Amino acid sequence: MDAPEGERLQKILARAGFGSRRKAEQIIAAGRVSVNGKVAELGVRAAPATDELAVDGIVISVNPDLVYYLLNKSAGVISTVSDPQGRPTVVDLLPRNPQIHPVGRLDSETEGLLLLTNDGSLTHRLTHPSHGVEKEYLAQVRGDPSRGAVRQLREGVELDDGMTAPAKVSLKGPSMIRIVIHEGRNRQVRRMCDAVGYPVERLVRTRIGSLRDPQLEPGSWRELTVSELRTLEKDAGVADEPA
Ligand code: URA
Repeated sequence: MDAPEGERLQKILARAGFGSRRKAEQIIAAGRVSVNGKVAELGVRAAPATDELAVDGIVISVNPDLVYYLLNKSAGVISTVSDPQGRPTVVDLLPRNPQIHPVGRLDSETEGLLLLTNDGSLTHRLTHPSHGVEKEYLAQVRGDPSRGAVRQLREGVELDDGMTAPAKVSLKGPSMIRIVIHEGRNRQVRRMCDAVGYPVERLVRTRIGSLRDPQLEPGSWRELTVSELRTLEKDAGVADEPA
């Protein structure tokens, strides 16, 4: 971990958004930083491309080769890397190099926020059901949902692959439901709304963890900021996992 060719930890942390080098030194001195699972002392060096760095037990991404894009997906675009039927996919909309993958999926008809990256570790942490990263959707449904339907959606709905976990659900308008789930089952929101008798006519994902961007135009994308990435890493935190 402390190979002489590595970089000083405070330099890596400062670049990764943890404040000035001085601030980063304080974080290290407080014993909050580990390299490959070992608490790091001031003076330690690390190789950002290969060493695993964590702050407060949460693994952070510091490899400069890693990229993070936020896309506002339009309907009709497939969220896989390639489509055997030759339909447009999300990766066609983004830079080709380095190769990236979507973090989870949105159905072809679903619109809204989708994260794409080449960071396999963050992808795993964000999509792992035990971390429960919230995803918020706006669903326009057919009909005017009853209070009973909303309550059912909140408490859990029986689907063919089991009960859904409790969800945050509120009515935003006559046929508009805001629904926040932390599971990532296939077509989950559509199937939940079907199950209570109000089929989805339009579905938009408006938030992933704490990440939202109402200004991002449909079909466009941007890179995550350093502070968004840090917050997302906290959302997907691994501090509660056994070492
Ligand atoms: N739930 C759905 O039904 N579709 C999506 O694309 C995402 C969540």
